[in-house]
Amino acid sequence: MGLIGTGNIGRTHLTSLTALLDARLINAEIAAICDIDPQSLLQASDLFSVPQTYEDFNDLVADGSVDLVYICAPTSKHIDMVKAATTAGKNIFCEKPLAHSCVQAQDMYAVASDAGIKAGVGLVMRYNQFLIHAKRLIGIHDFGPPKLAHIRDDQHYPIDHGYYSRWRGDKSVAGGGTLIEHSIHDIDIFRWFFGEAKNVFAKIGFYSSREIEDHASLIITHENGAVSTLDSIWHNVDRSSERVIEFFFERGYIGVTLESGKTWLDYQLEDQVPVRVHAETANLSLLEELGVHAKNIGSAAYDALTAVGMERYSALSYSLLNSIRNDEQPSPNFLDAIEAHRIVDAAYASSNRKRIIDLL
Ligand SMILES: NC(=O)c1ccc[n+]([C@@H]2O[C@H](COP(=O)([O-])OP(=O)(O)OC[C@H]3O[C@@H](n4cnc5c(N)ncnc54)[C@H](O)[C@@H]3O)[C@@H](O)[C@H]2O)c1
Repeated sequence: MGLIGTGNIGRTHLTSLTALLDARLINAEIAAICDIDPQSLLQASDLFSVPQTYEDFNDLVADGSVDLVYICAPTSKHIDMVKAATTAGKNIFCEKPLAHSCVQAQDMYAVASDAGIKAGVGLVMRYNQFLIHAKRLIGIHDFGPPKLAHIRDDQHYPIDHGYYSRWRGDKSVAGGGTLIEHSIHDIDIFRWFFGEAKNVFAKIGFYSSREIEDHASLIITHENGAVSTLDSIWHNVDRSSERVIEFFFERGYIGVTLESGKTWLDYQLEDQVPVRVHAETANLSLLEELGVHAKNIGSAAYDALTAVGMERYSALSYSLLNSIRNDEQPSPNFLDAIEAHRIVDAAYASSNRKRIIDLL
C-alpha cells in the first residue's frame, strides 16, 4: 500500500492500518507515503516506520511495490491523483468528498472503470458499529415503513480549530463547506438507510461571511416516500462535535449519537419498552458484517476492528483489502460517491434557485 497525504486523515488511516497489520488481520505492507510537506512526511515515516517516502505523488504511483493507493490529500487534488493511479493500473481508496461535483465524480468513475481497477471511497460511516447494528435491527424486527430520518450534525469550524486545515476555508480546494466537506457522510447515511432520493429542497447559509457555507438544512424525499432532513452547522462554540441520527418508522424508532462519547444505540418498537444497545453488542454486528468470527480472534484483533471512533477506518480498510483480494468492487465505492454528490449538487442548486430540485 502507498498513501498520499500524511495530514489528519492520512495519519488516521496509517494508525488503523498499523493496528490491522499488528493484529495480523491483513497481509500487506505500508510500502510508501507521499506528502508535499517534507516535515510531515518525515514525521509520518518515523511514526509508522514506512521505508519509502516521496514528495511527488507521481513517484509513489510509479513505485512497483505499491498495488493500492490511499488518496488522503485535500479534495481538489483527488482528481489528478485518481487519474494518475488508475493510469498506472493501481487500485485506489480515495477520501470523501471524491470531488467538487457529481460531474467530476462521474469522470473519475469512468477513468477507474476503463482501467478495470478497484476503487473505494471514504464514506466511512458505513462501518460504524451502531449504524450497522441499526441496519440489522431493521432486518430482524418489524419497524414498518420508513417515515423520517433526521440528522443534526454540528462541528466547530474545522478551519482554525481542531483540524487546523486552512484549505477548508478555501472553496477552490474544499469545494464548499459543511454540506459537501462534512455532511456528505450524512447524505450517504440517508441513502444507505432509505434508498434513492427523488427530490431535494435546501437552505444553505453563510453566516460567517466566508466563501464556504457554515449551515445547510435539507429536506430529501426518497423514492419510497420517506423523508430525510439534515441540519448541518459549523460554529465557534467550544463543544464536542455531535452527530445525532434518528430514524422513525411506522412502528419503531432508532436513535444513535456519534462523536459525543455516547457509545450506545436506543431503539423502541411500538408499545414495547425502549432498548439500549451498548458497543459490545453492536461490535458483534460489525464483526459479522466483516465476516469475522468474534470467538476466533484475539483481543488485539477485536480492538483493532471495533475501538469506538476508529472502528469505521479500520473496518473499512479491512473490508477494502478483502474486496480487492476477492476481485470485487469495495463498498462503499465510486458509484456510492456519485449518488451522494448528486444530492449535494441538487441541494446547492435548490438553495440558489429557492425551489425543489428533482433528481429522477
Ligand atoms: N472520511 C473521513 O472521515 C475524513 C475525515 C477528514 C478528512 N477527510 C478528507 O480527507 C482529505 C484530507 O483531509 P485532511 O483533514 O487530512 O487534510 P490535511 O490538511 O490535514 O492533510 C492533507 C495533507 O495532504 C498534503 N498534500 C497537499 N497537496 C498534496 C500533494 N499535491 N501531494 C501530496 N500531498 C499533498 C498536505 O501537505 C497535508 O499533509 C479531504 O478530502 C477531506 O475531506 C475525510
